[in-house]
Amino acid sequence: MSDKKRIVSGMRPTGSIHLGNFHGALANWIKMQNEYESFYFVADWHALTSEYENPSNILQNTQDMLIDWLASGLNPEKATIFVQSQIKEHAELYLLLSMITPATWLERNPTYKEQVIALSNKDLSTFGFLGYPVLQAADIIIYKADAVPVGIDQVPHVEITREIARRFNYLYGKVFPEPQAALAESPKLLGIDRQKMSKSYNNAIYLSDAPENIRNKVSGMITDPQRAKKKDPGDPSVCNVYEFHKLYTSETKRNDIEKSCKKAEIGCVECKKIIAANLIESLAPFREKREYYLANPSLLKDIIQSGNKKARAVASATMEEAKAAIKL
Ligand code: TRP
Ligand code: SF4
Repeated sequence: MSDKKRIVSGMRPTGSIHLGNFHGALANWIKMQNEYESFYFVADWHALTSEYENPSNILQNTQDMLIDWLASGLNPEKATIFVQSQIKEHAELYLLLSMITPATWLERNPTYKEQVIALSNKDLSTFGFLGYPVLQAADIIIYKADAVPVGIDQVPHVEITREIARRFNYLYGKVFPEPQAALAESPKLLGIDRQKMSKSYNNAIYLSDAPENIRNKVSGMITDPQRAKKKDPGDPSVCNVYEFHKLYTSETKRNDIEKSCKKAEIGCVECKKIIAANLIESLAPFREKREYYLANPSLLKDIIQSGNKKARAVASATMEEAKAAIKL
């Protein structure tokens, strides 16, 4: 056994990764794989809880997301990368946990209430959707994770996970550690329309966007909303374009831009040309790696098969312990 601490995290398969996903989660996963024993998976069963009426995209989205993970630096030599639905033990533990989870914990879950309202175009009054956090708890504790790198929105789910683990241990004897949420600071990149960047808002810049696409999207970005004309001074601190400069432009150049913007010496058109060029350049190695994986589909298959195998070995060992504790 490794003496490193263990982390587990998952992402629902939404398809290609955009810069919001990347800087919000994936960049942190890539960093953490160096210091932790890491398990990262595609939560395709979780996607089914809201997409059950139209599941036809889940498989393709899973493939697209996995390629983007690998191309952006998630490393199968360091991290165990796998697909939730390929590890049946998650479902088995989910069933056991469902026996001991009070329904009230799920009914009062703030994420649940919000999502039912936010996704009102879908009928989410299902058993599966209510049980979403129980499945998530199984995903996490089946690997005996110490920590779960997630965004702030997932903290209630990690809290329910801890409560479920504690309850299992109380009823049957200690099997599961109680995992902590590991929050990372993430930059506040918005979509090109200044709303939250999201596939469903059609405002996202993807890691895999072609240079031409990036130029077009960036040129359409909303900047400092108070700056109507080039002769008006701008305020980088409220400008979404400037947030991108913070990540993709050298400090010296960025400081120049900040000063010039405040003095109305640089126009937004020029400023956007700079960031578009820097983005395109930074993403070039990603695009190349992605092409490589697309051209060699057996490689992705092998990586996932081997990740699944490693994950399954750990998950089934935990299941044996869990069943023994319940005396099944
Ligand atoms: N609910 C998480 C999200 O929407 C995805 C997820 C599923 C997850 N299982 C997990 C995250 C286990 C961390 C650990 O982002
Ligand atoms: Fe934003 Fe750049 Fe325009 Fe200033 S010049 S408002 S930083 S896009």
